[in-house]
Amino acid sequence: MSVMPVVGIDDLAIYVPKLYLDYKDFAEARGIDPQKLEYGIGIKKMAIADTNQDSACMAANACLKLMQKNHLHPEDIGRVYVATESSLDESKAMNSFVIGMLEQIYGEGSFEHAGGIECKFACVSGSYALYDNANWIRAEENNGKAAIVIVSDIAKYDMGSTGEYTQGAGAVALLIRENPRLMAYDPKVPSTTIKNEYDFYRPFGKETPLVNGSYSNLLYLISVRKAFDLYKEKAIKTGLIKLKDGESITDHIDYFAVHLPYRKMGEKALAYLLRHEWRHLPRWKHVIKEIGMQEPQPKDPRGTIESILADTEFMKADEQFRRAFMQTSFYNEVYEKKMASSLEASAIIGNLYTASMYMGLRSLLEFEFKKGIDLEGKRIGFGSYGSGSSAMVFSGIIQPQYKEVVSKMNLDEDIGPRQKLSMEEYERLHRNERTFKDSVIRAHKEFVLVRLGGNTADKAGFREYNYVS
Ligand code: COA
Repeated sequence: MSVMPVVGIDDLAIYVPKLYLDYKDFAEARGIDPQKLEYGIGIKKMAIADTNQDSACMAANACLKLMQKNHLHPEDIGRVYVATESSLDESKAMNSFVIGMLEQIYGEGSFEHAGGIECKFACVSGSYALYDNANWIRAEENNGKAAIVIVSDIAKYDMGSTGEYTQGAGAVALLIRENPRLMAYDPKVPSTTIKNEYDFYRPFGKETPLVNGSYSNLLYLISVRKAFDLYKEKAIKTGLIKLKDGESITDHIDYFAVHLPYRKMGEKALAYLLRHEWRHLPRWKHVIKEIGMQEPQPKDPRGTIESILADTEFMKADEQFRRAFMQTSFYNEVYEKKMASSLEASAIIGNLYTASMYMGLRSLLEFEFKKGIDLEGKRIGFGSYGSGSSAMVFSGIIQPQYKEVVSKMNLDEDIGPRQKLSMEEYERLHRNERTFKDSVIRAHKEFVLVRLGGNTADKAGFREYNYVS
């Protein structure tokens, strides 16, 4: 019997637009307490795309960085996937634009031997894309080549809406290959859920999404928890994790990286998961003692999302309990040790939809390493969620060579110097009052959009990009 190759994430590179909106300016303009944004949401700076930037050129910029820092050539790459919910065309896939940009650097036709598609399922599609590519390598159909998966998005909400303070933009390019330096996927345990939902969606032609914020939050928590239950079942069945009496599977996960529409959502997701995993364990009585309140029970024990939402009395009591739980030493110990580092980047970049969890992974690795912790052999558990809706839970182990990659990570340097937008400038950008020819910043060493639509009808929808050296 042949041994299954060890596959996972070898390296990753990020691209973040250079414009940002400061939370204090935003709070003042919208008449919101800045503390709500800083602590209630967890945002200080939101990255905003310039007029000549879209999700395709951000994806190409992240991919070029990844290739350059790893001295990769197109012949080393067998697949380039892009996962996004900021699609530019109903048919033409975003990775074709990306290939066009990369071939300006590496030569026309240099990627012709490769393949790939654009993937869509709100914020979860990147996780599916990564896994499908990992399996392509495991199946040994890759002819020795690596795969690149790029997650790239612009999170733009209606002006004046509650979603407006959960905006952001950026891309992460991930290199998937055999014997990876960063993290090897735990085999046979990835678990998913799927359901037809309308928590967040963006009908054709609409630039901003329609979103039921609190519903999407709850759906995220429930879907990830259900996928986590399936993951747990597989992890125990395959022997990946052996539980002793009184133990929780969360004790066997050293770090959590979850979908991060905003920093606080990560903290809440961890609280939800720990409550679910701990409430039947001996430690729960100590938690309850510290909180000084029993955990509220919904009227309908089936606990469907509809019944929970209709049970307003329970919802109120549960919120109170959740806040108290998040103050306990039990929660805080896990939070500080296993999650806090993954949230740093989110607070200064904002929502990246598909890219948000992977920016979180990057943040986790960099800031844990800077604490001087030895990360080798540590397990990272991932909770990926996409509205509409699907969740995916999986895990991986940090590999012995991780230092080679992580020691060079520097978020500030990687983002580069940024320019703060005034509220007036931001609102002009939001209303699309400036064209791509009138960018706020002069691009330097990156791809930008230089032509839209061409001069003739047969070029309608054409998007042309140039590398500005
Ligand atoms: N100081 C500190 N915190 C404050 C505050 C203040 N002055 N005022 C409010 N807050 C806290 C609230 O208590 C709440 O914290 P909690 O979650 O611990 O209870 C938090 O700020 C958010 O405020 P809230 O009023 O509950 O929500 P909102 O109306 O601002 O909406 C979202 C928040 C996330 C629902 C909204 O931004 C949204 O719809 N975003 C887009 C959808 C999304 O991201 N969904 C995620 C799942 S994919």
